[in-house]
Amino acid sequence: MAKKTVRDINVKGKKVLIRVDFNVPLKNGEISDENRIVEALPTIKYVLEHGGRAIVFSHLGRVKDEADKAKNSLAVVAKRLSSHLNQEVTFVPVTRGKLLEDAVSKLKDGEILMFENTRFEDLDGNKESKNNPELGKYWASLGDVFVNDAFGTAHRDAASNVGIAANIKETVAGFLLEKEIKFIGGTLENPQRPFVAILGGAKVSDKIEVIQNLLKIADKVLIGGGMAFTFFKAMGYEVGKSLLEEEKVELAKELLVLANGKIELGDDVYTGKAFDPNTEKNVRSIDSIPVDEMGLDIGPRTTALFESFIKDAKTVVWNGPVGVFEFPRFSEGTKSVAQSIADIKNQATTIIGGGDSAAAVIQFGLIDGFSHISTGGGASLEYLEGKVLPGIQCVDDL
Ligand code: 3PG
Repeated sequence: MAKKTVRDINVKGKKVLIRVDFNVPLKNGEISDENRIVEALPTIKYVLEHGGRAIVFSHLGRVKDEADKAKNSLAVVAKRLSSHLNQEVTFVPVTRGKLLEDAVSKLKDGEILMFENTRFEDLDGNKESKNNPELGKYWASLGDVFVNDAFGTAHRDAASNVGIAANIKETVAGFLLEKEIKFIGGTLENPQRPFVAILGGAKVSDKIEVIQNLLKIADKVLIGGGMAFTFFKAMGYEVGKSLLEEEKVELAKELLVLANGKIELGDDVYTGKAFDPNTEKNVRSIDSIPVDEMGLDIGPRTTALFESFIKDAKTVVWNGPVGVFEFPRFSEGTKSVAQSIADIKNQATTIIGGGDSAAAVIQFGLIDGFSHISTGGGASLEYLEGKVLPGIQCVDDL
């Protein structure tokens, strides 16, 4: 279903509520990855350049007590946003009340304020996270229109997305949300073929619904990473000390039957004796993993097999690394997969589902090699599972 975007409304002179996902990682109080801020800039700039009065807000971290509150202020994010916009961003250190209301009423066309972490409201009965109706109504009362650009939060039913949307005349998507819907939603609805999905990460249990959904849509599902070993076990191989979810082996067997040849796991792995960046590296066929070794990366034959499917694809969706890419010695497989996908950028739609695979391509310096790198972690996973995301559903249809 096509959604209204910020292009479809007049923002001039209006108080424009903009929900972004600035839930960025902080290390010692400093932002260690600003991608989500950078990706939200087009919407914010558009509103400011078209004479809107921008009221920007987000959650940051999870706020359960005063200590969480102390370390999750958005002040540092407002500062970074201000330097990107080259414009003052008034930071309002509260989530409601006179201070905020006065700051909103002082805003002039083309000016911007940002208020404090919406999850500070969680200290009082989880009002933000449980979509307290009074809170959504209150925030909605601060603006004239609502622009939701927080894709990373679209799987959450919160006061700051669906709660506001239920209490305001117009809710539209920002450019980032629009892009995520176009690439992920569009691909799931109508992929160009061959459509190859690549899934990795530690656990099958995190990806069951993604596998089930992609088996319905994709032509091939390539599986690597820790989760592959539960499948190898299901196929009757011994996996040594590799990651294994014993209780999911039966399910893996069922998925293999359901897949009817669509799942590809390859037939070799790089192993080590310990989960350690310096452990000695061996290449093993999957029928000969020693009892005291664990698989830490896909092997060279598997890498070549994966590449042979990727190179002819017209659509690729990748979620989850195929090895322990944080250890340079075991990053080869994940790097090769990333490179194979980047190599077909001009002939295919290539999408990196957020989280660890996004972190991997950033680490490999391949950030420009794909049609789309999702800013969602949990949200892109749930989108790939085929779920309706509340933060998208609440946006007005075109
Ligand atoms: C994310 O980083 O995945 C989103 O910002 C949602 O955060 P949450 O898992 O704390 O709701």
